[in-house]
Amino acid sequence: MPTFAFHTYGCQMNVRESEAAARALLDAGHTEAADEASADIVIVNTCSVRGKAEDKAIGKLGLLCASKRERPARIIGLMGCMAQRMGKDIFKKLPLLDFSIGTRCADSVAPAVEAALQGRTTLAMKPLDAQPDAPSGHVCNGNFAAFVTILLGCNRRCTYCIVPDVRGDEWSRPAREILKEVRQLAENGIKEVTLLGQSIMNYGLRTQAFDELDPPSPGGYTLPFPRLLEAVAAIDGIERIRFTSGHPSGVTEELIRLYREEPKLCHHLHLPVQSGSTEVLSRMRRGYTRERYLEAVRKLRQAVPDIAITTDVIVGFPGETEADFEATRSLMAEASFDNAFIFKYSPRPGTVSATWEDDICDAEKARRNQLLLSDQDIRGAQLNQRLIGTTVEVLAEGPSLRNKANWSGRTSSNKIVIFSPPKALQPGERIQLTITKAAPQTLYAE
Ligand code: 5AD
Ligand code: SF4
Repeated sequence: MPTFAFHTYGCQMNVRESEAAARALLDAGHTEAADEASADIVIVNTCSVRGKAEDKAIGKLGLLCASKRERPARIIGLMGCMAQRMGKDIFKKLPLLDFSIGTRCADSVAPAVEAALQGRTTLAMKPLDAQPDAPSGHVCNGNFAAFVTILLGCNRRCTYCIVPDVRGDEWSRPAREILKEVRQLAENGIKEVTLLGQSIMNYGLRTQAFDELDPPSPGGYTLPFPRLLEAVAAIDGIERIRFTSGHPSGVTEELIRLYREEPKLCHHLHLPVQSGSTEVLSRMRRGYTRERYLEAVRKLRQAVPDIAITTDVIVGFPGETEADFEATRSLMAEASFDNAFIFKYSPRPGTVSATWEDDICDAEKARRNQLLLSDQDIRGAQLNQRLIGTTVEVLAEGPSLRNKANWSGRTSSNKIVIFSPPKALQPGERIQLTITKAAPQTLYAE
């Protein structure tokens, strides 16, 4: 049987969808290739969030398609956000491509491989309001952590963001399916699950996802996401729960209570802020002000002092003045983020902000990007320094990539800890460690 490999760009959602597609190919009798170079089938899972991510994927696909000249039987496929965005046009750009599968048709990957083996080309696309195929199959392979998609698509429509156009309308998976999936994962040795959704705290708002757990009350489902967290936490064998991504509107008293009272819920929240200027936030259509965002952070830190908060920031949004940028800098200092991903604004076709002038030049975007990165480096180092001498619980992951004599693991707050393992330690075991050294991105323990 032919061997396959996935090349995945973009977010955890894509990582998860590549995994589910790999499961389907394994079930169809194919095997995973030792590496991409030797694979008979290569599937590129793509991201459209910034122009650069698409350019990289097109370059990669061009090389892969060119490799068909020497290996005509090789199958090259495309899936994910760029497949959805480009539709049939991708075949004009890449005539040798065997298939292109849109974001809501993940179940079509395995059938498209079968068709390609028989010499047929596939384009699978669903309308953006059609029910999406939810990724459900897993490749556990002795892992102790897994991703579980609970919410597909997004309805928020931030003015810069292409996601609603490439992933379609928000759709919550039925709770019973999610819980069944997590129970199976637990039976397969998974100890940590990360629940995924673009705007995850909206889980259950638009789909009647709670028919099994809770009959709808006259007022509708008022607290669905926290209820799902509780239901996942009740599953035996699951020891840690994470989720991503958050929005300040979802930082409710109920969620904060869970952070305090549910020991399985990890003390980490990824809460993209995008900008610290209320003016820019309003043009981004983010649905909160600077003050409202900082209030959510304050409440979280007050109730859960050891919580780690991470964020995403866009610099160089149309019309971002020096004062707006300074507002972002000061917000980042005030929020005291544990980590931040900084992106240079990139106009995306079809979005509202793409109709506005991209007026911050690239050099200025780069300068703002660098400044925030170096601020964050200093902040990260300071925050980590404070952890020296404290004892933290670490879920051991296995030998560290750099030095096999050491192991790496993660704290509940998602910080990486490098340590020398006691004898007979198993991956997935939890141990208490005292932090002895700190770098901006890594902690060290004896
Ligand atoms: N330009 C730059 N960054 C973007 N992001 C989303 N859209 C754009 C864009 N057009 C960033 C946001 C988001 C992250 C996944 O990517 O910060 O949170
Ligand atoms: Fe990229 Fe967004 Fe698609 Fe994830 S959902 S792959 S970040 S465009």
